[in-house]
Amino acid sequence: MINGKDSSIVIGGIGSYAPQKILSNQELAKIVDTSDEWIRSRTGIRERRIAQNGETCSDIGTRAAQAAMEHAGMKPEDIDLLIVATMTPDMPFPSTACIIQTKLGLRNIPCFDVGAACSGFLYTLEIGCQMLKSGDYRNVLIVGAEKLSSIMDWRDRTTCVLFGDGAGAVVLTAVDRPGVGILGTSLAANGAEGKILNMPGGGSNEPATTESVLERRHYLKMMGKEVFKIAVRVMEQSALDLLVRHNITPEDVDCVIPHQANMRILELMSTRMGLPLEKFPINLDRYGNTSAASIPLALNEAHQDGKIKSGDYVLLIAFGAGLTWASSLIKWH
Ligand code: UT7
Repeated sequence: MINGKDSSIVIGGIGSYAPQKILSNQELAKIVDTSDEWIRSRTGIRERRIAQNGETCSDIGTRAAQAAMEHAGMKPEDIDLLIVATMTPDMPFPSTACIIQTKLGLRNIPCFDVGAACSGFLYTLEIGCQMLKSGDYRNVLIVGAEKLSSIMDWRDRTTCVLFGDGAGAVVLTAVDRPGVGILGTSLAANGAEGKILNMPGGGSNEPATTESVLERRHYLKMMGKEVFKIAVRVMEQSALDLLVRHNITPEDVDCVIPHQANMRILELMSTRMGLPLEKFPINLDRYGNTSAASIPLALNEAHQDGKIKSGDYVLLIAFGAGLTWASSLIKWH
């Protein structure tokens, strides 16, 4: 039997998708009081993708999922479980996973969303791995998809310049090859700090009212400086602890894919972890922060660019609202 707690879980297929429309820093500077120079020097972002009118989070996620299934050589009937990480679902319910299930033509398999914001992809990765190890599933499709443009306050220059739309997906499969695939994942959260990055309106605590809309409560709010400091510290700690647990030194790591939020965060992590920046494939200059889509988008591009080879140790590190954070160590098969 392949499935079971002793099997290895590998990424059997990977894909990503980003909407065609590009919004450059120069164009943003016509909307809010900002400049290309400020955005580039403070974040490293040059442009981001924005969904077209009518293009939903599930549409974007479906495109990435189709690419991952094609790469894995799988048909809809091969998928046994679908998990979607998103903080911009098409609607509160049904889940975006159920909507993507229909668009992909999957069987009546279990489908659900995970709400762990920018750490969502690694949370789904861990859930997918553990469910595969139960032996009850063969192939698990996980998707990180976001339409963050829908929750941006286009009058708030401190947030709207940072985020973009996109999606990435992988097919996880159990194989009988010890020592390869996802070696381990570490997940953590600290809800006590949740207020520094949230969207206060629209949930059951603050249902939409005329006042809530006028007070712009249905947009992402972030205390950037506080988030920055915590992000650097916990991402570094999470990743280093995971490496120690697996007897791997930072020098052994061939490729690091952290959540793509800010170039200065990546530079600090590179210095503090003793890992050269050349080992960090970076695409935030072209996409901005795409939350749950950020890691699979960057992972797919790094894989396509030949930056990840068989036998490489790949380290994924995430941080996001919750606060949540996570890291995952993969030995590429
Ligand atoms: O995905 C979840 C994780 N999120 C993150 O990791 C984000 C973490 N935070 C950050 O990346 C950074 O804190 C930001 C990019 C959000 C902000 O950079 P900062 O260096 O911390 O800038 P700041 O907030 O301290 O603002 C510096 C100045 C302020 O002006 P004063 O008070 O010094 O006069 C801001 O008003 O820059 C101003 N400012 C801007 N100016 C031009 C803020 N946003 C802009 C803007 N354009 N877009």
